[in-house]
Amino acid sequence: MSTFQAPKGTYDLTPPSSATFLAVREAISAPLRDSGYGYIETPGFENVELFARGVGESTDIVTKEMYTLTTKGGDQLALRPEGTASVLRAALEANLHKAGNLPVKLWYSGSYYRYERPQAGRYRHFSQVGAEAIGTEDPVLDAELIILADQAYRSLGLRQFRILLNSLGDKECRPVYREALQTFLRDLDLDEETRRRIEINPLRVLDDKRADVQKQLTDAPKLRDYLCDACKAYHEEVRALITAAGVVFEDDEKLVRGLDYYTRTTFEFVHDGLGSQSAVGGGGRYDGLSEMIGGPELPSVGWALGVDRTVLALEAEGVELDLPATTSVYAVPLGEEARRVLFGVVTELRRAGIAADFAFGGRGLKGAMKSANRSGARYTLVAGERDLAEGVVQLKDMESGEQTAVPLTEAAAELAKRLG
Ligand code: HAM
Repeated sequence: MSTFQAPKGTYDLTPPSSATFLAVREAISAPLRDSGYGYIETPGFENVELFARGVGESTDIVTKEMYTLTTKGGDQLALRPEGTASVLRAALEANLHKAGNLPVKLWYSGSYYRYERPQAGRYRHFSQVGAEAIGTEDPVLDAELIILADQAYRSLGLRQFRILLNSLGDKECRPVYREALQTFLRDLDLDEETRRRIEINPLRVLDDKRADVQKQLTDAPKLRDYLCDACKAYHEEVRALITAAGVVFEDDEKLVRGLDYYTRTTFEFVHDGLGSQSAVGGGGRYDGLSEMIGGPELPSVGWALGVDRTVLALEAEGVELDLPATTSVYAVPLGEEARRVLFGVVTELRRAGIAADFAFGGRGLKGAMKSANRSGARYTLVAGERDLAEGVVQLKDMESGEQTAVPLTEAAAELAKRLG
């Protein structure tokens, strides 16, 4: 193993491609910030208990994929595999739900960790931007979140994604369905592990990818037929609201999701250019989670979109984001004196809010101009001894190639004027 190798299932974000990641995070969070969601940041690790209770003891995430550790002080911690349980824990701890303003709408962005088998689009360290709306049961809130995710993807130029929508019922109707499903599944020809799954998490069996299992599931009882009237009405309202917003979705009664806390509305954003790891984002309602982790009744809904997979989706669709150059002015000094003087101009520009960079290390004109080009700067400032003797710098417009001498004392003001 080389010392310069990132751990298995991880990768580094480095320039220039890292700029795309930043832009994706920005694009996903922009609609949230514009819709009353406040920023929240929680630790990268939590007490194991939070995820065991919140995400669910029967999920793969908790039983197989969690990075757990015991601290020197004996605390059992886990690197966070997802954000919802942490965000709800933090909101409860800060009593945000008691500030009299429900729902508490929060957005977050960060790193998550799952010990999964690495493959294209599936990593052990990945990045999500998420949103949680805590404390309100209102189909408009579910619709808002789905519409905002759709808006985020569209703003990035993505088109080949689909929205899958389902209702998982509530604490009244789901247990009845669960039992009917178990009775059906117990009669099938299934392996030991799947038989165990029937007893702890039967809905996940519906999610089995194997063709021979799927074939046996054709006549499985459908959750749709078991939804209580309240769940049915709620779901119809969500469907009507997103339809009215012009957001296209597909009803997918097989959508069960890999976390235990969901009730009623569940959805997933899938991208058709990504192969087997096609889910770019997912979410839903989790009306019972607060009580599961020891809090009051706080019906909530949220989603998380995967930044890594969203970037892969952009690549799959051949979408190039229009990323403006980060540097506007690039200074190229020729000689010692010019170095001091131009660095002074660069500092002045930066203080005036103009993005400027500098050819460090006293390189020659040719190499420095190459760096200037690569920086994407609209203007370069070049100065040598003769220029300084005349009290001027050469200002070159990198688009038109036009070069003019401007008085040194006016260089910053002239650039500010030209850059608007
Ligand atoms: P999730 O479906 O487990 O939901 O993850 C959301 C997204 O994170 C996935 O759609 C995917 O894009 C990305 N993701 C998950 N695992 C990996 C991985 N190993 N490598 C790369 N990307 C990955 C949640 O995490 C819920 N907390 C969402 C939520 C929020 N539900 C309600 N509120």
